[in-house]
Amino acid sequence: MLVNSKEILKEFKRNNKAVIHFNINNLEWTKWILEECNRLNVPVILGCSESAVKYMGGFDVVYSIVTSLIKDLDIKIDVVLHLDHGHSVESCTKAIDAGFTSVMIDASCEDFNQNVLITKEVVNYAHSKNVTVEAEIGIMGQLNHDNVNFGSTTNVSDVLEFVKQTGVDSIAPAVGTVHGMYRGDLKIDYDLIHEISMKVDIPLVLHGGSGLSNEILKKCVKNGITKININSDLQDKWSLGVREYLANNNEVIDPRKIISSGMDKIKSEIDLKLNIND
Ligand code: 13P
Repeated sequence: MLVNSKEILKEFKRNNKAVIHFNINNLEWTKWILEECNRLNVPVILGCSESAVKYMGGFDVVYSIVTSLIKDLDIKIDVVLHLDHGHSVESCTKAIDAGFTSVMIDASCEDFNQNVLITKEVVNYAHSKNVTVEAEIGIMGQLNHDNVNFGSTTNVSDVLEFVKQTGVDSIAPAVGTVHGMYRGDLKIDYDLIHEISMKVDIPLVLHGGSGLSNEILKKCVKNGITKININSDLQDKWSLGVREYLANNNEVIDPRKIISSGMDKIKSEIDLKLNIND
């Protein structure tokens, strides 16, 4: 069933566990993530970025794919359809109007007051439609080719003030992780995660969860993270599977066979990530 993220996040937070947000990029990924999470009987957050929405054809297409798969595959688990990194009020509004049950408004590149204003506007509209809102504060690290920009971590009093002023449902503070397939040393500030989680009572979100071992992810959860975002690790594993398949089957032209050749590796990666709650 399609639900907003409120109860799921509340439940995972209460149990000191983390729900995994897997990004979707097309019909096949959506299908495989739903199948695997349903097989393991765990709720899932399907994150769709603005660029993935555009690639798939638009907000209505994404909503139709997700709800149709839930129906036709007889998916029993709770599923959240979440806009990942909505960069404007307009984008979040479109997602909500199409039926997304959760949105992230990412105005973290704005100054504090502007981030508050934009986030508040989204929260007001979203809550009137029973949609939950995630926001970001601080500057997340980014991986551009071989260059890593580590961003800048946020401070606790800003997070407290931001949550109080916006009424947002969950918050992604910058704590030292990086978006993209970064495999070097990270300076994750576990103390900062812990301190924020002690003072802020809404669930904390970790962006940039790929490339981190389950031990590191578990340490983040132990310190107060309730939602972990994973995109690049699934891309990495899928493309590995496809490369291997094409290297051994260079005559194959059926796109279904080519695209599906990454399925087993994606499903194994999903299983691995879900192990963090064991
Ligand atoms: P990764 O690139 O580390 O998978 O991060 C994904 C993410 O945070 C999406 O919001």
